[in-house]
Amino acid sequence: MTVSRDPRLTLTVEDAIALVTVDRVDKLNALDGALVRALFDICRDIEHQAAAKVVIVTGTGNKAFSAGGDIEAWSAESPEAFGRHWVREGHAAFDALARLRQPVIAVLNGHALGGGLELAACADIRIAEEHAKIGQPEPGLGIIPGWSGTQRAVRRFGSQNVRRMAQFGEVYSAKEAHEKGIVDEVVATGSGLDRARDIAERVLARGQFATEATKMLINAAEGEERERVMEALAGTAAAASDELQEGLAAFRQKRKPDFGGS
Ligand code: COA
Repeated sequence: MTVSRDPRLTLTVEDAIALVTVDRVDKLNALDGALVRALFDICRDIEHQAAAKVVIVTGTGNKAFSAGGDIEAWSAESPEAFGRHWVREGHAAFDALARLRQPVIAVLNGHALGGGLELAACADIRIAEEHAKIGQPEPGLGIIPGWSGTQRAVRRFGSQNVRRMAQFGEVYSAKEAHEKGIVDEVVATGSGLDRARDIAERVLARGQFATEATKMLINAAEGEERERVMEALAGTAAAASDELQEGLAAFRQKRKPDFGGS
């Protein structure tokens, strides 16, 4: 097990599955600045781990996946620090998770509220245990859903669902969230992780490169990210070409490359 720079966020890689767990059960896995920065680091780590082929994200306990941004922490920030650090660092971490090359499965082992739902939105698929509640309470506290809760959440859940949760304060049961397409599956309490492992096994039986490339292309189509996807896929093709071998050989032999042109 890797304990990140914050012991409240852990990573284990076993049988090709990277399991990321928010372990702050006494505060319902609420995310403060240190946890968000640790998430960013863990995502970079996972990105580089050849052994990690599928990612599962969950929380500790059976009450909450995450009850969102730590209200005490963010409310102590100055308005400038809130925008500069809280919001921007949250985006950096959540973008890193959403843009991992590996497929990501979120196990909503309980409530996913505010930043918790924004965290779940970064996954490619969401499994909710039946007791989970799903919502965006932020405007009820006088703040906006600032970790892409009005952006990625709109792309992935649809604007009307986000309007109803964020503007009108609706809180959905897992079953309602499933009917609205916010979560992909509802399972019995306590069985989310097993279900996620089953799904991960299915992914592992498929082509790894094709799966990763497909994820990147879907992300691009969705507007999640474009530039990096285009250059990563084109870069892979170029790096696999004979042209690169010739270019490198010419460089090392201090001659002009011969690409077969005139
Ligand atoms: N930030 C910081 N602390 C939080 C938190 C959050 N988002 N959500 C819960 N906690 C803390 C509580 O303050 C409490 O701490 P304490 O025991 O030191 O007092 C602990 O977690 C347990 O929460 P509690 O409210 O007692 O549990 P509950 O079962 O009565 O209610 C919720 C559960 C999820 C309905 C309630 O905790 C809640 O509304 N949380 C805030 C959700 C939210 O608005 N999220 C968006 C934040 S921007």
